[in-house]
Amino acid sequence: MSISPAFLDELRARVPISRIIGRKVTWDLRRSNQAKGDWWAPCPFHGEKTASFHVDDQKGFFYCFGCHAKGDAVGFLREAEGLDFIEAVKVLAAEAGMAMPDRDPAEARRADRRATLADAMEAATRHYRLQLGTGQGAAARDYLTGRGLDAKAIERFEIGFAPDSRQGLFTALREKGIPPETIVEAGLAARPDDGGAPFDRFRGRIIFPIRDARGRAIAFGGRAMDPNARAKYLNSPETPLFDKGRSLYHVGPARAAVAKGAPLIVAEGYMDVIALALAGFGGAVAPLGTAITQDQLRLMWRISPEPVIMLDGDSAGQRAALRLIDLALPMTGPGQALRFALLPAGQDPDDLLRARGPAAIQTLLDEARPLVDLLWQRETEGRDFDSPERRAGLDASLRKAIAVIPDEATRNHYTATLKERRHALFGGRRGAGRLTPSPGERRRGVSFGTPPVLAQTRATALGQQDAAESTMEAMVLALCATYPGLAARVESRLELLAPQDPARAALCHDLLAGTESTDGQQALQRIMGDAYVRASPLIRAPVELDRAAAVLVNLLDKIEARRAALSELLRAEAEIQGLVDEGLTWRMGESARARHRAEHPELADSADLDEDRDALSARLAAYAGTKRRPRSGEGQG
Ligand code: UTP
Ligand code: MN
Repeated sequence: MSISPAFLDELRARVPISRIIGRKVTWDLRRSNQAKGDWWAPCPFHGEKTASFHVDDQKGFFYCFGCHAKGDAVGFLREAEGLDFIEAVKVLAAEAGMAMPDRDPAEARRADRRATLADAMEAATRHYRLQLGTGQGAAARDYLTGRGLDAKAIERFEIGFAPDSRQGLFTALREKGIPPETIVEAGLAARPDDGGAPFDRFRGRIIFPIRDARGRAIAFGGRAMDPNARAKYLNSPETPLFDKGRSLYHVGPARAAVAKGAPLIVAEGYMDVIALALAGFGGAVAPLGTAITQDQLRLMWRISPEPVIMLDGDSAGQRAALRLIDLALPMTGPGQALRFALLPAGQDPDDLLRARGPAAIQTLLDEARPLVDLLWQRETEGRDFDSPERRAGLDASLRKAIAVIPDEATRNHYTATLKERRHALFGGRRGAGRLTPSPGERRRGVSFGTPPVLAQTRATALGQQDAAESTMEAMVLALCATYPGLAARVESRLELLAPQDPARAALCHDLLAGTESTDGQQALQRIMGDAYVRASPLIRAPVELDRAAAVLVNLLDKIEARRAALSELLRAEAEIQGLVDEGLTWRMGESARARHRAEHPELADSADLDEDRDALSARLAAYAGTKRRPRSGEGQG
């Protein structure tokens, strides 16, 4: 049905969006301004304690500064209540006391057609189920029993059987008055090329009905009984009801189970889903004989923020997991994550359950690894990074992979996590930046090891915080205090800001926690009195939040770049303590350059600084290499 924009506008004008959303959230009344139709609440789309979810009745719009969920009343009903577009419009129309517009005739015809096909699919489901109970179904029943499915399980998953007959289903449906075109269009029978009578698509197969989220039978999966059959599994073709890439087996029951706290598990096959559900993991789904698509990821995320992908432990399963990384990264963000549980080689969840029971699956779930782990594994496994060029290659491929993450905070966390991994990987490696001095070198007082400066660097770097950084920090805090919701947007970076001044630190904490402490308030007063802050147009006359956010992010970038440069400088200085030979000149030059960068952060963004740091350690390593004595000679000299 097509709904005119005018009708939607009318609905929006008549129903304040806060009335719809207010049923799902608890308003933060201290922060909200009811008279102005300006509302704040903890976000219903991601778990949080602070109220960063903003609803504006004037604009008819909601926006979460935490997870960036946004939309109008229709969008809210779709996301929060799982309604489709028409259902959401109906809710609003009822609320507004308006009648729904007449249906668009073409769309009405399509809807009727789908209803007709769905009826045929239901009739086919009943037919197949009946066949399983007949004499012809005896072997199929034995097969199912052999796979551990009892009568209750067969009932629950509506498993049926298609006997090996050319027109069994076709004739049965014709007798019920269903026209041949409908049977063919539903994908239940196919017309041969020679134009002869349609023949059944599924023959000699166990039948698994596939239902959509609303419970309509939209397709079938058929498993061959004959081990020599051309395809082990045959699925319905695409029809007006069935879009493979947008469907998941068992999605309806899985959604209900997830709502009750079960994890959403994505397995590969029908039998895996069934085995998982029977073992108590009701939130299991499977794609339908194809690789997981972006549409299926969206569907999963509407059900759970963190589905667990459980792929077969064979190499195809591993490859599928690695492909999924590239598919998922451009879509990840708060509330849209993935975890991966890799099964033992050669086993699918069904096999594992039979061999080791539900506890083995639970262990896999508990140990499921986040997407970032798989990305790291994919880029590093089985490779050696023993040269600056190879390490630079790794940096480039990691940077490229995470560049596609749309959500800035998520991207930053990926960067941080990968950086940690990188340090862990290169940290203890010979020729890769961290070098252990030989006894001889130690005796000469030459140290190439990275001194334990990290903790102390931070303190010293902050100790040397200059006036410019202090002002930038003041501006960051002033902006966050002036613009509600801004702090939540940069939450993780604000945590890292860790102002050196205790009162500012208190203010920072207040901004993050939504509290007001005496110290914090005093700091705020001082900051607002600062000439630079007072003069800022953003503070004097508030602008659009997005603009303020852009300035804020820029300031944080600058501060972080300065600190990175400064800590590099300190590290370099610590490293050269005791280095009293020809290397000194070069190192001093390097320090001077680092200092210069620290004072001119606009010359380099933080990524460039990173590269410089790599280059620095690479050169250090090369230099140290020429000084090192061969290992075999160690201890003799
Ligand atoms: P598997 O070959 O792993 O089968 O295919 P399975 O699920 O373990 O099945 P059983 O245990 O032998 O009965 C995994 C999934 O890939 C699709 C099906 O959706 C299947 O469940 N598939 C497989 C096909 O669509 N066609 C095939 O020929 C094989
Ligand atoms: Mn299997």
